[in-house]
Amino acid sequence: MSLEKEIAKRRTFAIISHPDAGKTTLTEKFLLFGGAIQTAGAVKQNKIRKTATSDFMEIEKQRGISVATSVMGFEYNGYRINILDTPGHKDFAEDTYRTLTAVDSVILVVDCVKGVEEQTEKLMEVCRMRNTPVIIFINKMDREGRNPLELLDELEEKLQINVRPLTWPISQGKTFKGVYNLYTQHLNLFEADQTRISDNYIELDDIRSEELERWVPGAFCDQLREDVDLVEGVYDPFLKEEYLAGALAPVFFGSAVNNFGVQEMLETFLEIAPPPHEREATERMVLASEPSLSGFVFKIHANLDPNHRDRTAFFKVCSGRFQRNTFYQHTRLGKKLRFANPTQFMANEKNLIEDAWPGDVVGLYDNGNLKIGDTLTEGEALQFRGIPSFSPEIFKEVINRDPFKSKQLEKGLQQLTEEGLAQLFIQHGNRKIIGTVGELQFDVIRFRLEHEYGAKCDFTPLRYIKALWITPEDKKQFEEFLQRKSPTIALDREEHPVFFAESQWMLNVARENYPGVIFHETSEFKTA
Ligand code: G4P
Repeated sequence: MSLEKEIAKRRTFAIISHPDAGKTTLTEKFLLFGGAIQTAGAVKQNKIRKTATSDFMEIEKQRGISVATSVMGFEYNGYRINILDTPGHKDFAEDTYRTLTAVDSVILVVDCVKGVEEQTEKLMEVCRMRNTPVIIFINKMDREGRNPLELLDELEEKLQINVRPLTWPISQGKTFKGVYNLYTQHLNLFEADQTRISDNYIELDDIRSEELERWVPGAFCDQLREDVDLVEGVYDPFLKEEYLAGALAPVFFGSAVNNFGVQEMLETFLEIAPPPHEREATERMVLASEPSLSGFVFKIHANLDPNHRDRTAFFKVCSGRFQRNTFYQHTRLGKKLRFANPTQFMANEKNLIEDAWPGDVVGLYDNGNLKIGDTLTEGEALQFRGIPSFSPEIFKEVINRDPFKSKQLEKGLQQLTEEGLAQLFIQHGNRKIIGTVGELQFDVIRFRLEHEYGAKCDFTPLRYIKALWITPEDKKQFEEFLQRKSPTIALDREEHPVFFAESQWMLNVARENYPGVIFHETSEFKTA
């Protein structure tokens, strides 16, 4: 098959949600449709369980299992679907943010009872940075949830995106009757059935016709007609271009656990979601259809089991064709690497592959050459952009407990942070500060430093809430800021200065007092 055809049939995306909204359940239903798994529960077993939050080794064990489901590829109706899984556990949020830099679109799951939650907002912020196209699935319609119009308003307000319902629910909770598809104009009647796919579709291009009463009890018919009038009046028609530009999110209502509304959304998704397209490198824009291989590493998974000390780098193909046992240029190190055992994940199986195409994710066995953001090409000096670090939320100073092992500590910290486990900041030349999104990472770091590098350390909590990358707008004022704020300034791994904010209030004051300093929420900014 030609490169163009391989690209056109691919859809690479992530399903994201606040924990418990139904991401795992929806993923599983997609895999069932694709025939990639046979029984419900197969993905669920791999989910990091909530009960294990205090025991990081247990979580790592589960993460080891779940790495097999990190990318779930399968064929459906002539399409090749790659779902990039994102860990639901809050402490791995940074993993999730980075995975979002490797997808072409996302499906966002929202619980109809809870509406927009904290993690939903954060994930959307990351999507907005790259104008990633978003489809919203409002889940759990079989429960007594919030008023759908109110939910749509909340989505627009909190997620800062225009929405356009493509299906409309007929009641909800105990009296949920189904949805009316505003796009294809048919009724889909609800049956609470977790074992089969709902196929109760009735064509109904005019919901004013009496035909509606045959299927839906009278009171609900009037409500539906009223709602549809309102929706059609308030919301502009759905425009695919706006969706592709990340400015408009189509909304579907359903119930993942009951298989309801899922297939409808999947099919619309396949029709409208973008295939792999161009990607920005520092040097130029790279088109997916270019014949030369290019791609980047967005995630590294290290095995904590001392008997299997290996690392898998997740490589996203951006252009051309990836081939096994072929030399590629590692542009940061300026050296050639080849991979004898590249793998791809088909549902819960890991397979050796001969080649891969744009949109695919390849697991590369790595012994320390690769770090997050690294680019591989057929020789051209390219560096892909858009794999930034995000501000951590918890900060601790590293205290060396064994002065004879400072070299090991240094090396360990350097390597672990290259894997993306945490961020390392250096202050005044030697004070080391670790920043993470979750407490769990500190246990992992302490454990790994001791077991893999023979170094021992403690952590002293610091009161910062955020790290912001800073660049000068006015050089003189910038220098003055660096000097005055020196106790709260450090350098990141690339030696870019960052400012630690102790509170939002302090940050606002700094911003007001120093208009000549630009504060960036992520490490990726065009240097002034
Ligand atoms: P997550 O990955 O986003 O964290 O959510 P997950 O799919 O694990 O779903 C969280 C809970 O919500 C699960 O219940 C799941 O069964 C339930 N759920 C998912 N979709 C629906 C839906 O459409 N309606 C209703 N009523 N519930 C739904 P649990 O009790 O935590 O797990 P389980 O014991 O049922 O597996």
